[in-house]
Amino acid sequence: MNAETDRTGARLSALPDLLLPWFAANKRPLPWRADREPYRVWLSEVMLQQTRVEAVRAYYARFLAALPDVPALAAADGELLHKLWEGLGYYSRVRNLQRAARELVERHGGVFPADYAAIRALPGIGDYTAGAIASICFELPTPAVDGNALRVLSRLCGDARCVDEPATKKAWREALAAVYPAGRCGDFTQALMELGATVCVPNGAPDCPRCPLAGLCAARNGAWRELPVRAKKRARRRETLTLLLLRCGERWALRRRAETGLLAGLWEWPNVPGTLDAQAALALAAAWGCEPTELERELRRGHVFTHVEWDMRGWYLRCAAAPEERGLVWVTAEELEQTYALPSAFRQFWDAIRGEEAT
Ligand code: ADE
Ligand code: SF4
Repeated sequence: MNAETDRTGARLSALPDLLLPWFAANKRPLPWRADREPYRVWLSEVMLQQTRVEAVRAYYARFLAALPDVPALAAADGELLHKLWEGLGYYSRVRNLQRAARELVERHGGVFPADYAAIRALPGIGDYTAGAIASICFELPTPAVDGNALRVLSRLCGDARCVDEPATKKAWREALAAVYPAGRCGDFTQALMELGATVCVPNGAPDCPRCPLAGLCAARNGAWRELPVRAKKRARRRETLTLLLLRCGERWALRRRAETGLLAGLWEWPNVPGTLDAQAALALAAAWGCEPTELERELRRGHVFTHVEWDMRGWYLRCAAAPEERGLVWVTAEELEQTYALPSAFRQFWDAIRGEEAT
């Protein structure tokens, strides 16, 4: 063992005594911390994976009110699930949530097993989520190494290994597991993430003067700027779409997306690839049998996904006919809001039209 790894070992060993008192005094009172019921902890961790705490709060409360336990989730209608997730993005998360709930019902009597490997084997549950559930709910010494934890650990130890490498995550998991404090495993997991979320923050300067780790941190004197080391991002593909926002009386045309690919199974404004001008958009609506009578307006919006960026041009057209062909479904404003899951990329057009017509 060289001097650097030696120092890493000493730093990690010191973590429980430094983090646990800090966490007890500084933790945010979050709804999913009220108890350590596995279903609730699981749901919160899955929602928090790509979404900020403040955005998650309302979704979390609504989801639990509609689907209060594992059997309810296992039995839920797919449309309702998408609606409860509408706007959160990464919709495969909620489909996996249901697949795992069904497996829990079929194989484990509808309750989480107190066993890391069995939890890890559930659909959609990776090392991070399994570690979080096992430590927070069952007091097992299983680290949950998310982006927050990786940032704190890289900085604390002055460690420049790339945190996007699976081998780096595995190494941190193993090093952390060795220092997990018996009887305080759940608090320790949360303390590390909480420090990363509130003190050693991802955007902007960490608050080192308030950090309980400052005394032994390798990065507090500015080295944090270079840490953690991330993989280079690949450039996003750009795609252009033309949407038809077709209104016939008080009904709007929606269409269901394919069951595979981006935003699978969700609802969309009918659209075609590429850019159509007003005349081409009217001709397309006519070809679909919608008998367009009036062009209300044009709206342009963009949306950024992980691997692709959409430039969207939407033509708001009044129509005299509402053909139920080409997968078109004609829905009222109330149905659109209550029942149909319209992802954010498309919802922004609805918000613009509604906002304008309400004033
Ligand atoms: N971010 C995601 N899960 C978290 C947790 N359990 N505590 C603090 N921040 C988190
Ligand atoms: Fe992060 Fe600063 Fe704390 Fe180091 S001292 S862990 S850089 S907040």
